[in-house]
Amino acid sequence: MKALISALTLFAAGTTCIQAETPVYLDDSKPIEERVEDALSRMTLREKINIIHAQSKFSAPGVPRLGIPEMWCTDGPMGVRPEVLWDKWTQAKWTNDSCTAFPSLTALAATWDPDMALLYGKSIGEEARYRNKSVLLGPGINIYRTPLNGRNFEYMGEDPYLVSKMVVPYVKGVQSNGVAVCVKHYALNNNEINRHTSNPIVDDRTLYEIYLPGFRAAAQEGNAWSFMGGYNLFRGEHASYNPILMNDILKGEWGWDGAVISDWGAVHDTRTAVSGGLDMEFGSWTNGLSNGHSNAYDNYFLAEPYLKGIQDGTYSTVELDDKARRVLRLTFRTVMNRNRPFGAMGSDEHVAACRKIGEEGVVLLQNRNNLLPINLDNVKKIAVIGENAIKMMTVGGGSSSLKARYEVTPLDGLKARIGNKAQIVYARGYVGDPTGEYNGVTTGQDLNDPRSPEELRDEAVRVARDADIVLFFGGLNKAAHNDCEDSDRLSMELPYGQNELIEAIAAANPRTAVINISGTGVAMPWTDKVDAIMQAWYLGNETGNALASILTGDVNPSGKLPYTYYASLDQCGAHKMGEYPGHPGVDELGNEVMDMPYNEGIFVGYRFTDKNKLRPTFPFGHGISYTTFKYGKATIDRSEGTETDTFTVTVPVTNTGSRTGKETVQLYIADLKSSLPRPVKELKGFKKIELQPGQTADVSFTITADALKFFDPELHAWKCEPGTFEALIGSSATDIRTKASFKLR
Ligand code: GLC
Repeated sequence: MKALISALTLFAAGTTCIQAETPVYLDDSKPIEERVEDALSRMTLREKINIIHAQSKFSAPGVPRLGIPEMWCTDGPMGVRPEVLWDKWTQAKWTNDSCTAFPSLTALAATWDPDMALLYGKSIGEEARYRNKSVLLGPGINIYRTPLNGRNFEYMGEDPYLVSKMVVPYVKGVQSNGVAVCVKHYALNNNEINRHTSNPIVDDRTLYEIYLPGFRAAAQEGNAWSFMGGYNLFRGEHASYNPILMNDILKGEWGWDGAVISDWGAVHDTRTAVSGGLDMEFGSWTNGLSNGHSNAYDNYFLAEPYLKGIQDGTYSTVELDDKARRVLRLTFRTVMNRNRPFGAMGSDEHVAACRKIGEEGVVLLQNRNNLLPINLDNVKKIAVIGENAIKMMTVGGGSSSLKARYEVTPLDGLKARIGNKAQIVYARGYVGDPTGEYNGVTTGQDLNDPRSPEELRDEAVRVARDADIVLFFGGLNKAAHNDCEDSDRLSMELPYGQNELIEAIAAANPRTAVINISGTGVAMPWTDKVDAIMQAWYLGNETGNALASILTGDVNPSGKLPYTYYASLDQCGAHKMGEYPGHPGVDELGNEVMDMPYNEGIFVGYRFTDKNKLRPTFPFGHGISYTTFKYGKATIDRSEGTETDTFTVTVPVTNTGSRTGKETVQLYIADLKSSLPRPVKELKGFKKIELQPGQTADVSFTITADALKFFDPELHAWKCEPGTFEALIGSSATDIRTKASFKLR
């Protein structure tokens, strides 16, 4: 023992304990910028090249030598995508990656409640964190320019102000987990048809007033840590590395310090990817000439070709260092942030969030004869009709497709809620999309039905006739040309003969409610034939429970439309004036493109229907309740400002019905005289309030100069002009209840 002690003593004395200095880049206590510079200074040229492009389908390498971890990305905006193989879209068949499928982002937008967006972001971010992902490839916020866009369900509607107010809390919620959002698809990816060659031709005023505000809010207020560039072109260059969008606007005017990630397969050459502000290349099909060459990551445009270009002097290292800095910053904000939470997957909180957001987003569009909620005291037989009452919708639709832990269908939700209080009789009504598979994930449902359309309709009519109330669940699904990536709808019409079926059912029993499950607007030529209509979106795991709560009155619906429900495409500027899907052209670089002039300019959605005095089926911001609300007279007060005055407009709102309900009070601003044409009115404020029966609340909005400005392309700046304005306050874009005018000096 003595010998051992003396040996240890000698050892201790002989070796001065070298407390190695922790390198700055590894030291959480140091500011990120110092860590970035320190890491960059230690990296070789090849290591800098490695981190700016993919190494697999959804990951990019870190710097193994320095202990800088890999960067793992995952889809999507409504749930964490199941794992695929290293280099393929094929399922990896993991058994631990079933996720919570949250409602579609149109459903979130339809809540008109930023608190729901924060809850949504926090919840989905926890699932991405738990799956050890650093970047969540969402949210999508492209403006709803046409009801035909296959990906409207992934986005937040037609109005830039609503999108701006809903995207910021979503971003903050996700990133509170140490997971980056990747706001997409920046910018002007407003259709799926020709998505790789669409060349939107958009003037600056339209760009800045309609298509950029959501992205600007995400970047400047949400502090989004990454953006995804779109596939389409803009003014001669692909969006993913467009010098105007990326360098001039995003990184220049907005001063954004995040990383730009390409869409998958959106990069087509090295030169412009280097100079056009792209920071990470993913998904390229790079044997250089065509699609699909396995493990060709060194062929990526920002890989060997770029390295060679630097070595032979074609490129300097200035752009490379900027790209590497942005990737390192993203890394330190996420995977190398030791203080980030640990996340959770499939928690009770996530289930509750999924259901709550769904219940808040469902929009009651019409409710004649107070058909809804179902009064179980006297309704004893309920006909449930339609494929969408039984079809699982979390699988399909493209990259947002999920492997959900479970999914409660509308029929199952109703059965669970109603139990033996009433008899539920189901009839299929029609066969739409009996499949249920995407990318190797299957729903497990077999929805094949050999019966003819006539047999199906006859059964549905018979079941309807015999019931006290009919609930028709129809709409779209996630199949091609429905709500689906990489394909647009071919018309606004409901598919599968639903219009004729609805009319036949309603003729047999007018006590019919149509529950439309879709992510985009559809034509509804039968609104006068049915008592009730509900826009039910895609609500994820808790679909059936959320809808049953609302249909039985456990929950009073409070959603509002985030886009205009046109009666026909003639009412939509993109089709009436704009061009869709565009015409063949050649851009400045000689690319064959589909030029698509946005001739409608800033007149998108209600801005177009207002200007042309059109009456849509249901207007932007519309949604009714099981109670009623009365608006009093608006009053307005001026506060003297240094630069410009501010105004506070106040309106008393009363619940005049017999049950508690929520109302989203909307503020629109009208500029009565301006040097440039302006919309009749524009959304500049909204507040969702809950009122008990008989309760009155004063709802106030502060109107600052920002709410009065328009973008002057000559000045390339926002400005407001002195003159008279009106504050219009209402329950939808066409249901203005009161107004107050004021003068800006
Ligand atoms: C897709 C989509 C994009 C998605 C990416 C990865 O093509 O456009 O939204 O995040 O590829 O799946």
